[in-house]
Order: sequence, then structure tokens, then C-alpha cells
Amino acid sequence: MNILVTGGAGYIGSHLVKQLGEDTQHNITVLDNLVTGFEEAILYGKFINADLSDFDKIDKIFEENKFDAVIHFAASLVVPESITNPLKYYLNNTSNTANLIKCCVKHNVNRFIFSSTAAIYGEQEGDKIVVTEESPTGALNPYGTSKQMSETILKDTSIAHPEFKHVILRYFNVAGCSVDGKIGQNTANATVLVKVAAETASNQREKMYIFGDNYPTKDGTCIRDYIHVEDLATAHIDALNYLQNGGQSDLFNCGYGEGYTVYEVINMMKKVSGNDFEVEMQGRREGDPSALIANNSKITNAMHWKPRYNDLELICKTAYEWEMKRK
Ligand SMILES: NC(=O)c1ccc[n+]([C@@H]2O[C@H](COP(=O)([O-])OP(=O)(O)OC[C@H]3O[C@@H](n4cnc5c(N)ncnc54)[C@H](O)[C@@H]3O)[C@@H](O)[C@H]2O)c1
Repeated sequence: MNILVTGGAGYIGSHLVKQLGEDTQHNITVLDNLVTGFEEAILYGKFINADLSDFDKIDKIFEENKFDAVIHFAASLVVPESITNPLKYYLNNTSNTANLIKCCVKHNVNRFIFSSTAAIYGEQEGDKIVVTEESPTGALNPYGTSKQMSETILKDTSIAHPEFKHVILRYFNVAGCSVDGKIGQNTANATVLVKVAAETASNQREKMYIFGDNYPTKDGTCIRDYIHVEDLATAHIDALNYLQNGGQSDLFNCGYGEGYTVYEVINMMKKVSGNDFEVEMQGRREGDPSALIANNSKITNAMHWKPRYNDLELICKTAYEWEMKRK
């Protein structure tokens, strides 16, 4: 297949491109504006430097290339920024996604895989911290809402154009770096826990912060489901195969079904690095649900997804080793 990967210079996209290049025969085209991505992270395929908001250019790229599938990673994803600058998120995440889908329909590109997020589940009722795809949604911030709106656009488009098939993957907390150490997470000013802890463990930060220890969890800090980036990349290849084999448009959680508290992650990072770095307690951040864990039986059953790296120690170790390499 001829595959367009938007955002393929970014953290998750570059790991998918690496796996596509190593494990499949597909032709890869990466489209990225390098706003948070890095050209050197693209190990395979052709690279087009373009911005998804340039609708005429995107249309021309579709005209010149006969794509069979689009895997759409490109987005803005800093939750606190989305609260102060929501329009950036609605424009880059929702409006640009709508335009990309429009190009697919116009040019008969009928397989579309979309990066969504567990952020759209928001805070669940009572003690329901393990969420299925049927759990109520209700994003707590514009980032989550921008993704939820894109999901709706995809669903409505597939109803109006039944030949257009999509898979929505709702990622839980993506972490870790390629196990062979060739690529990793380069995101500047990262706010995600494992990367921040790895940067602190490798002495690139003086200390790190915990945002709230009065949540209703076993040690008071938030619980999340951390999925290794290479297992997530595999889920995209499984989704491509699913669609190629006649799978219907659908959405799937991507997580391991296990959760760790912030303290547990930090302690693991201290263990793998041997660095007892400083951690400071701060108040809660806006828009952080107390706990979120994936029920992953749907993707496991429908796509036979087989994660290989469900291991917090390996996740922390690959993230730490990458920081030591790049600092
Ligand atoms: N990292 C996570 O934990 C996580 C969790 C849930 C969902 N996601 C989703 O996964 C996707 C990839 O995330 P990531 O962590 O790799 O982020 P990233 O910032 O590393 O990658 C995003 C890529 O998209 C590119 N991009 C952004 N806007 C663009 C535009 N208008 N035109 C062209 N290229 C553009 C960036 O340059 C970058 O290379 C995003 O859609 C994100 O919402 C990520």
C-alpha cells in the first residue's frame, strides 16, 4: 500500500514509520511541518514538508500521489496550552482533520487511521476507572474536545460515504522509546510524566513536580495506563490490516489495562537510573482526572493486537537511555 503518515516526524509517528519500514513492504510518505517534529527521526519513506492548514497544497499532494491509506498523527497536544489557546487546537486538530478527510473522500482514499486520546473520557462516575469504548465521554479540556469533534466528523463521513472506512485509536499514556535505541521522544518542553521523569533522572532538569497528592487513589497521586510507543505503533499496523481485510469503521482503546500512580512511575525511574532526584509537590492541575485505565479487550479481539512491552521498568529504562543519549 501507499501510505500517507501525517505527523510522521513526531514522537509516535516516527516509531510507526520505523516499524512500517522494518516490518512491511508499504510505500511511506511522511507529511509534517516540523513544528514539534524532527526530520532526522524519519528513518524510512519520502518526506514532504507541508502544513495541513495549507488546503490547496494538501489537495495537490493527494492529486500527485495515489494514497491507499492515511494515518493521521499531526496535531497539537499540550493540554494546559489548549486551555489558554483553544482556537489553536480547534484549528489544528479539528479543522485540519476535517480538511484532510475531505481530501480523502475527494481522491478516493478509503482507509483512515486516527490518533485519538483517552483524554476524551474525562472524569468517570464513581469508581469506574477502567473505561471501555462505550464509557461516557466528556473531555475536560479543549485538546480532548478537539479530538472528540474529529471523531464525530469521521463517524459522520463514514455514514455518508460508506466506502470511506476509519479506525479511531484512543491512546492512553504513551511512553518509552524504541527498544533498539535508534529513535525516541524529542518533544521540547514536555509535560508528560515519563519523559519529564527521564529528563530529571538524566540531570536535564533540577527537579520535577507532582501535581496533586489528594486524589482518591492508593497513594493520592493520579493513576494512568502507560503504553509503550512500539506497542502502539504495532496497533496502527494491525489497524491497517484490519481495514484491508474488510474491517468496519470502529474505535478502539489502546492501553494495557493496568494503571500506575505518579509515585510508582517516579520510583521506577529512580530505580532504572540510580538517581534519587528531587521531586516537589504542587497543587492539582486543571483538567486531570484522578484515574484512567483502558479496557483493551476490543482491540485484542478484533485485531489480535499482541503487545510485547507491557513492562513499566522497560518503559522507564528506554525513556531514560534515550535522554542519556540525546543530552
Ligand atoms: N503522546 C501521547 O501521549 C498521546 C496520547 C494520546 C494521543 N496522542 C496523539 O498522538 C498524535 C501524535 O502525538 P505525538 O506525541 O507523536 O506528538 P508530536 O508533537 O511529537 O507529533 C506531532 C507531529 O505533527 C506535526 N504537526 C503538527 N501540526 C501539524 C500541521 N498543521 N501540519 C503538519 N504537521 C503538523 C508536528 O510537527 C509533529 O511532528 C497526536 O495526534 C496526539 O494528539 C498522543
